[in-house]
Amino acid sequence: MIYRELGKDKVKVSQLGFGCMRFPTIDGDTKNIDIAATTDLLRYAINNGVNYIDTAYPYHDGMSEVVVGEILNKENLRHKVNLVSKLSLWMIKSKDDLEKFLDDQLERSHQTYFDFYLVHALNKDYWKKVKEFDVLSFLDKAKKEGKIKYVGFSFHDESLDLFKEIVDGYDWDLAQIQYNYLDKYYQAGIEGLEYCESKGIGCVIMEPLKGGHLANNLPPEAEEVFKKANKNDSFASWSLKWLLNQNNVKVILSGMNDLNQVIDNIDTTSKYSVNSLSEEEKATIDNVLEIINKTKRIDCTNCKYCMPCPQGVLIPNNFAYYNKYYNFDCKKNRESIKGMYNSIFIDSEKASACIECGLCETHCPQHLKIRDLLKDVSTLFES
Ligand SMILES: NC(=O)c1ccc[n+]([C@@H]2O[C@H](COP(=O)([O-])OP(=O)(O)OC[C@H]3O[C@@H](n4cnc5c(N)ncnc54)[C@H](OP(=O)(O)O)[C@@H]3O)[C@@H](O)[C@H]2O)c1
Ligand code: SF4
Ligand code: SF4
Repeated sequence: MIYRELGKDKVKVSQLGFGCMRFPTIDGDTKNIDIAATTDLLRYAINNGVNYIDTAYPYHDGMSEVVVGEILNKENLRHKVNLVSKLSLWMIKSKDDLEKFLDDQLERSHQTYFDFYLVHALNKDYWKKVKEFDVLSFLDKAKKEGKIKYVGFSFHDESLDLFKEIVDGYDWDLAQIQYNYLDKYYQAGIEGLEYCESKGIGCVIMEPLKGGHLANNLPPEAEEVFKKANKNDSFASWSLKWLLNQNNVKVILSGMNDLNQVIDNIDTTSKYSVNSLSEEEKATIDNVLEIINKTKRIDCTNCKYCMPCPQGVLIPNNFAYYNKYYNFDCKKNRESIKGMYNSIFIDSEKASACIECGLCETHCPQHLKIRDLLKDVSTLFES
């Protein structure tokens, strides 16, 4: 594993971080984490150099923090890692809740402190809340009390100006942004990354594979381009090495749920680092980007922030099927995707079950017009 330095104290962090939002589950129940399989993944990753573990209260419907804490303690791995959790402001109703929330997180995860504590998914509204509830003073106090060591924020808003305002608004140790070769100019994007660098703030990357699409959903033409350039490297590794090439990318989080993924991503992050990408490789990625941009219809990253829908609509799954339908330009694939949609989804999970209440749209970090898009999905698959 190759390490970089993060925060004012130059904490040594592994280039690969474990994102704890997509663990293996039992019977597809997000709350029911497969603890044995997850233990194997975390044990392998940590014993092979991963020292940055990113969880949050809402992940796996509240169970990620709990399970991660238990595994780290039980396997005697806690001292080897930087444990990261987040202050999810949508769960905070008053200033008094801030301390209760953090104490509850520490208690649930059986920890005495978090190494990094991030204000979660900041956007315009939550930044207002940060000011209204004097969250930054609370974070200073929590640091003094030893409940957290370092403070950062994660960001999900369209406005680069807001991003810069937040960067300048506190003495942060890190900024966590969504970034990958498809999202170079999306949200904070490359300009945000470089702005942070100019201020001495390192970036942690979320959704480096666009929720898995850049590894598992590439158009065949794009796969061919990668295979032709290097038949040994996985599609995931292309995305990771594009990120690793950049100096202010300190940690790449990946939500791995399978040992092969962990092994592959450790391999990539142990081989590649700043300036290891050749001009030819950059051109290969540009070529793939062009191909993908031609096929993609809905920019959903499967983060599941929109869930649960009160009506039971499986929003990201609907979008995944819609994108899959267009990813591969062949009749056989389209018929098979349509058939699978209608056999796998029960009626309440389908797009047509949406009653257009709009709740999901208030949570979508990608600001998707979910209601309109669900109508498109319904027309495509259910008519
Ligand atoms: N703070 C925030 O607002 C926020 C928002 C989003 C995410 N995050 C954090 O950032 C982390 C990373 O984001 P992410 O989970 O979306 O990362 P990601 O790497 O973009 O997507 C993860 C998915 O990629 C696939 N994958 C990973 N490695 C692979 C490999 N070597 N080969 C093939 N497929 C591979 C898997 O998909 P399959 O499951 O399809 O196999 C996996 O579930 C999250 O886990 C979470 O901790 C934070
Ligand atoms: S708008 Fe539709 S999909 Fe979204 S929460 Fe409401 S019913 Fe569910
Ligand atoms: S619709 Fe938005 S909130 Fe829901 S999974 Fe997709 S990107 Fe995430």
